[in-house]
Amino acid sequence: MATPYDSPQPVLNATTSHGEHLTLRPAEARDADAIQKACSDPETVRWTTVPLGYDAEMAAGFVTEYAPGWWQRRQGACWVVADAEGSYVGQLDLRVGKDPEVADVGFITAPYARGRGYMPAALRAAAEYGLRELGLARVEWKAHVGNDGSRRVAEKAGFVFEGVQRGGCAHRGERRDCWIAALIQEDLA
Ligand SMILES: CC(C)(COP(=O)(O)OP(=O)(O)OC[C@H]1O[C@@H](n2cnc3c(N)ncnc32)[C@H](O)[C@@H]1OP(=O)(O)O)[C@@H](O)C(=O)NCCC(=O)NCCS
Repeated sequence: MATPYDSPQPVLNATTSHGEHLTLRPAEARDADAIQKACSDPETVRWTTVPLGYDAEMAAGFVTEYAPGWWQRRQGACWVVADAEGSYVGQLDLRVGKDPEVADVGFITAPYARGRGYMPAALRAAAEYGLRELGLARVEWKAHVGNDGSRRVAEKAGFVFEGVQRGGCAHRGERRDCWIAALIQEDLA
C-alpha cells in the first residue's frame, strides 16, 4: 500500500494567532545563511543539541543531507518554517523513533522572528500532519526544565503537559531533567 513517504515531502500550511500565513517546506540552498545564524544563536546553543561552532559547511549539509534524510528514511520530516514571502523564519523536525507510532519534535525560531507566534502554529501543523497522515499515535515534546519559551510553544500548540523526566535529556555529555508534553490522536477529536 502506498504511504505518504512514496511522494515528495509535503508543504504544510499554518496560520498564526495573528493571522500570519506560514508554510512548512523542505530546506533549500537559499536558507543556508539563516540556518547558520539560527543555529549559532546563544539561546539555541543553550537549549538544543545543535552542534557547536555551526559553520557554513554544516548549514549546507543540513540542507542537502540532514533535512531531507528524515523523509528519505521514512522517519518523519524536517521542515523550514517560512513566512508569507517564503523566507526562513525557523525550522522544525518531526522525528519518528523506535516505536513507529511515536515521534518527537525539535524546533528553532530565528532570533529576529521570535515572539510572533510562529512556532506554535508550525508545531500544531506538523503534529497534526503526523497524527492524521503518518500513522502516529503520539507526538512528544521535550525541553530542558526552565525552557519556558519552548513550553509556551507546546502549550499554545495544544500539547498536554505530562511532567518531568529526571535525567530525561542528553545534553553535551550530561543528563538534564526535562519537561514532557504530548499531543495524541484523541486530542484531535
Ligand atoms: C522557543 C522558541 C522556539 C519560541 O518560538 P517563537 O516562534 O518565538 O514562539 P512564540 O512567539 O509563541 O513565543 C513563545 C514564548 O517565547 C517568549 N518570547 C516572546 N517574545 C520573545 C522574543 N522576542 N524572544 C525570545 N522569546 C520570546 C514568550 O515567553 C512566548 O510566550 P508567550 O506568547 O506566552 O508570551 C524560540 O524562542 C527559540 O527558538 N528558542 C531557542 C531554541 C529553543 O529553545 N528551541 C526549543 C528546544 S525544546
